[in-house]
Amino acid sequence: MRNVKQESEETISTAELYDRVWRRGLYSGFSHATAGEAATPFLDAYIDAVKASGKIPARVLELGAGSCDHALRCARERLHVTAVEYSEVAVTSARERLLHLADGRLDIVRADLFAYTRQLAPGSLAGAYSNAVFHFLSAEQRVEQYRMLHGALVDHGVLAISFKAEGDALQSRGAVVELTPAGPVVEGDDGIRRLFVTDVDVLVDEMREASFTVQDVIRWSVSDYNVARERGEFVGLLATR
Ligand SMILES: C[S@@+](CC[C@H](N)C(=O)[O-])C[C@H]1O[C@@H](n2cnc3c(N)ncnc32)[C@H](O)[C@@H]1O
Repeated sequence: MRNVKQESEETISTAELYDRVWRRGLYSGFSHATAGEAATPFLDAYIDAVKASGKIPARVLELGAGSCDHALRCARERLHVTAVEYSEVAVTSARERLLHLADGRLDIVRADLFAYTRQLAPGSLAGAYSNAVFHFLSAEQRVEQYRMLHGALVDHGVLAISFKAEGDALQSRGAVVELTPAGPVVEGDDGIRRLFVTDVDVLVDEMREASFTVQDVIRWSVSDYNVARERGEFVGLLATR
């Protein structure tokens, strides 16, 4: 009986595990209602870089947008944003809460990011952003996504991808299931496996392997991101095509 349950649990995708998290309200919407809801050093740097790339009007993409607060910030900065999110709960809430604030510059698409990036048109994006999502991808999945995004970005287009970093509140709330060159992978009480980055150079090399030029590595913390009064630790890579 125990084995049957374990096997069926193993077939549940990470996207479905996150959907459960959204339905239970486990992390209160991640960035939503934190000090990092509308601004982080990484989001600010990304928006500045897209604006500096000179592609106006700029069409940008956010993958795993969650509450879509960061996508709204981009829309308010006059970027035209497509926010892709798997969880129906998150999408419904974000549409009700934010669409009327975005002046027509925000589309919220309910989709699996892996399927969405496969159908992107070449040269269709000035920027691609993903906050606290790629830490649940394998190294192979990360490089595959970078390659697809490379094809979808214009010349000098901006790629901004962040990860959970060492010391994050969730790192101690689970068991290490794998040691990778970039850091340990920890399975949390929610069943989600996350990389906590200890060696960011490994991630920089992966982006270079996909022909990006890494311009900056940015570290920051957000209190209350997953756990009240504890810090979410992040590291983000800002790159250009
Ligand atoms: C850690 S949360 C980050 C949310 C948001 N970026 C933020 O920082 O507040 C990860 C998000 O990715 C979404 N997600 C997970 N797998 C996905 C997939 N395959 N396609 C699209 N979204 C996915 C989850 O539902 C969740 O909203």
